[in-house]
Amino acid sequence: MGSILRSSITILVLLSVCAVVNAEEERSFEDELERVEEALRTNPGRALPNTLDSCRQQQGYAVKLYHMGMETRARRALKFCFDALEIPDDMSAEEIVQVSQGQLKSKADREYKKAMTLTPDATSGLEIYRECAACHNAEGWGRKTGSVPQIAGQHRKVIIRQLADIRAGHRESVVMIPYAASENIGGAQAMADVAAYIESLEISVDNGKGPGDNLQHGESLYTEYCASCHGATGEGGNEELMPRIQAQHFRYLVRQFEWIRDGKRGNANAKMVSRIQGFDERDVSALMDYVSRLQPAEELRAPLGWKNPDFN
Ligand code: HEC
Ligand code: HEC
Repeated sequence: MGSILRSSITILVLLSVCAVVNAEEERSFEDELERVEEALRTNPGRALPNTLDSCRQQQGYAVKLYHMGMETRARRALKFCFDALEIPDDMSAEEIVQVSQGQLKSKADREYKKAMTLTPDATSGLEIYRECAACHNAEGWGRKTGSVPQIAGQHRKVIIRQLADIRAGHRESVVMIPYAASENIGGAQAMADVAAYIESLEISVDNGKGPGDNLQHGESLYTEYCASCHGATGEGGNEELMPRIQAQHFRYLVRQFEWIRDGKRGNANAKMVSRIQGFDERDVSALMDYVSRLQPAEELRAPLGWKNPDFN
C-alpha cells in the first residue's frame, strides 16, 4: 500500500514537472495576444478587411473569456486569428513586425522608383494640391499647433518618399492614408506632380515654436547628434533623401521624434533610432525648440503675410 502511494506521488510530481516545462515552452496568453495585435496592425498575410474585422471580434471575445478564467476557450477563439491572418507559428510579435515592414518597404520602394523616372507637371500638381490645402493650408504651412506639419519647401524626393511610405502603410498615419491613396490622387505621376508643387512653395518662419527656455541645451544636442545628417541649419537634402526640419512646428517635431524613437513610425531611419534612444522629455523639448527656430535660406523664406496667388 505504502509503495503504491509513494509511486503515485512520484508520478504526480513527474506529471506536474512536465506540465510546468510544457507551460514554459508554450507562449503565455499575453504573448499570443501581442502576436495577434501586431499581425492586425501589419497584416502579414494581406487579409481582407472583413477578415481583419472578424479577427478583431474573436480577439475581443478571447480577452473576455480570459478574464473570466476560461483560458482554453480564450486560446481557441484567438486561434481563428492565427489561421485567418496566416501568422506563422514560429514568429514572435517582433519578427511579425520586421517581416511585414520589409514587405511594405519594398512596395513603397517600387512606387518611389517609378515616380523618380517621371517628369513632374506643375499644373496638375496644383490641381491635386487644392485638396491637400484643406489641412496643410494654401501656403503649405500647416497649423502652428503642430496638428498638421508645414510641408512648403520640403525636398521633392522626401515628399515622394513619405507619400509612397504612407500609401504602402510603411509609415503609419491615421489622417493621411486616405488622402495619399492612389484611389484619391492617382498613381506615381500624381505623387511626382504634387511633390514638385509643394517643393516650390515658400517656407513660413512664423511657425509654432517651443517655450524658448533651454535653447543652449537644445543647440548642443543638435550639433552633436543631428547636424551630421539633417545639416547645420536643419536644411536636409534632396539627393540624400534627408528631410528639411528647420522652421517646422514645435509640437509636430516633438510628436514625430517620439514616434521615431519609440518605434511607432515604420519608415524611421534605423541609425537615427539607435542614436536617440537615451533622449528624455527635457532633452526632446529643448532640442525641438531649437530646431523649430532654425531658419531656411533667405530666398526660400516667405515674406510675412504672404498669400499663395494660385488660390486667389
Ligand atoms: C485631413 C487633413 C489632411 C489632408 C487633406 C492632407 N494631409 Fe498631409 N498630413 C496631415 C497630417 C495630420 C500629417 C502628419 C502625419 C501624422 O501626424 O501622422 C500630414 C503629413 C503629410 C506629409 C509628411 C510630412 C512630413 O513632415 O513628413 C506629407 C508629405 C503630406 N502630408 C502631404 C499631403 C498631400 C500631398 C496631401 C494631398 C494629396 C495631403 N497631405 C492632404 C493632414 C492632412
Ligand atoms: C543617421 C542620420 C540621421 C540622424 C543622426 C538623425 N536623423 Fe532624423 N531622420 C533621418 C532620416 C533619413 C529621416 C527620414 C526617415 C523618416 O521618415 O523617418 C529622418 C526623420 C526625422 C524627422 C521627421 C521629419 C518629418 O518631416 O516628419 C525628425 C523630426 C528628425 N528626423 C529629427 C532628428 C533630430 C532632432 C535628430 C538628432 C537628435 C536626428 N533626426 C538625427 C536621418 C537622421
